[in-house]
Amino acid sequence: MDFLKPRYVPMSRRRRIYEGKAKVLYEGPEPGTLIQHFKDDATAFNAQKHDVIDGKGVLNNRISEYLFTQLNQIGVPTHFLRRLNMREQLIREVEIIPLEVVVRNVAAGSLTKKLGIEEGTQLPRSIIEFYYKNDALGDPMVSEEHITAFGWAAPQEIDDIMALAIRVNDFMVGLFLGAGIRLVDFKLEFGRLWEGDLMRIVVADEISPDSCRLWDIKTNNKLDKDRFRQDLGGLLEAYTEVARRLGIMSENERPTGPVLVQ
Ligand code: TMP
Repeated sequence: MDFLKPRYVPMSRRRRIYEGKAKVLYEGPEPGTLIQHFKDDATAFNAQKHDVIDGKGVLNNRISEYLFTQLNQIGVPTHFLRRLNMREQLIREVEIIPLEVVVRNVAAGSLTKKLGIEEGTQLPRSIIEFYYKNDALGDPMVSEEHITAFGWAAPQEIDDIMALAIRVNDFMVGLFLGAGIRLVDFKLEFGRLWEGDLMRIVVADEISPDSCRLWDIKTNNKLDKDRFRQDLGGLLEAYTEVARRLGIMSENERPTGPVLVQ
């Protein structure tokens, strides 16, 4: 496949397709591909809180690459093709479904606030929630009724999304457990991938400590973006620890500074 061969386009000449809070999408080297660039920006509470944390993008690129590669290998379809460099990966262009799909195993975050459940409570079973991706509205929680009535996704697509979310959860719970980490909850995004007349739903965006809650099994230490949301400090150290435990980054590999690409 031609698009798997590297072809370098200078940054300045690349067409920027979309800029989000933590990532930029550029036109890819072949039709149907995009380049996903991870920035160092950290935002929370719908970007009311913002900071730049040198090296976060590099870590998220690596961690997301690792998780998406594993998912591809177990037959969970994703948009991920391969990592290009420290901050960028080649992905398939998909039509993003405007939903944030949250899977929860343990009570934390908005669930504890909304329902008064104590943080850390193991949930009776995994819970899937849908949020409508709309910054102006602050990503409100929505039901399947809203999703189908307003045409954001068809009933069959919701079924596919839920089945994939459960597979991703089952796989990642085990993967992180092996690294001494409890997967408390996480957010997924999905896209429609067109292959001729056929369309399938694939996992898109990123899976990283920005989009997951990850607690150390023994100490319950937070190894995710809650370190930023709750001003706990040590975000880079926590993300580095996640990467190290997953076997992605060696002990003394540093995410910042002049590091040789690949
Ligand atoms: P929540 O408890 O704030 O609803 O978050 C649930 C999970 O979703 C948590 O792992 C963080 C992730 N998340 C995002 O990735 N993006 C977001 O905008 C929000 C609100 C949560």
